[in-house]
Amino acid sequence: MKKIVISLGGSILIPSVEKNRIRQYVPVLAEIARGHQLFVVVGGGGEARRYIEAVRALAIDEGTADEIGILVTRLNATVLVAAMGDAVYPKVAESHAEAKKFAEHKKCVVMGGITPGQTTDAVAAVLAERVRADVFINVTSVDGIYSADPKKDPSATRYDYLTPRQLLEIVGKDQLTAGLNTVLDVIAARVVERSGIPLVVLDGTDPENLRLAVMEGKYRGSVVAAKKVRPLPL
Ligand code: UTP
Repeated sequence: MKKIVISLGGSILIPSVEKNRIRQYVPVLAEIARGHQLFVVVGGGGEARRYIEAVRALAIDEGTADEIGILVTRLNATVLVAAMGDAVYPKVAESHAEAKKFAEHKKCVVMGGITPGQTTDAVAAVLAERVRADVFINVTSVDGIYSADPKKDPSATRYDYLTPRQLLEIVGKDQLTAGLNTVLDVIAARVVERSGIPLVVLDGTDPENLRLAVMEGKYRGSVVAAKKVRPLPL
């Protein structure tokens, strides 16, 4: 069975606890999990950012703010596990080793963050490397990787395809602070380069985009790979 690792941004799945897209994502993830070994890494979303801001206002250090962000990612992951019922392994993995162990049950595995100083994109990139995934998908709020942040720079252009080196040049300029929201963190980009696993960046505002991409290979997004490939459908 082909292996897929998805980094499902919290800003997509749970922008806030009241306005979440869990109901819409459950059938899509369950359908993908029927034909593939699926791993889903869930981000912290708006709730993580709210906690991190509150923690910072108390002059608490960034590493502790990260730990609190991790707790929120795991909370979000727990809600997704509960909502997916029998389609997933019933516990949130708390390490890559645990995720690999849970996958022996042939069910979809869900996890959140694991260690301060990074984001769930890095967790997912390393997981993709460790399970030898066929593809790594980053589901985010933009339809691919742009030459600059399209929300701030209207002249930014979108790449259909770029090499890991080009990706590193784009994301290398970003700062590292708790709760920072960029298309992909620099650690994830480095791991993508060394693992050689193709990365697809998609807009997940509508979960149908993910379904069409994985099941039918239809997507508008960016592919990051050393050679020009179409990694989907598998
Ligand atoms: P993410 O930044 O991964 O979630 O984690 P997100 O913001 O919802 O993802 P996107 O932006 O939609 O893709 C939230 C915060 O939790 C901490 C960081 O502070 C991060 O900004 N975190 C998460 C860690 O420190 N380590 C981890 O392994 C994961």
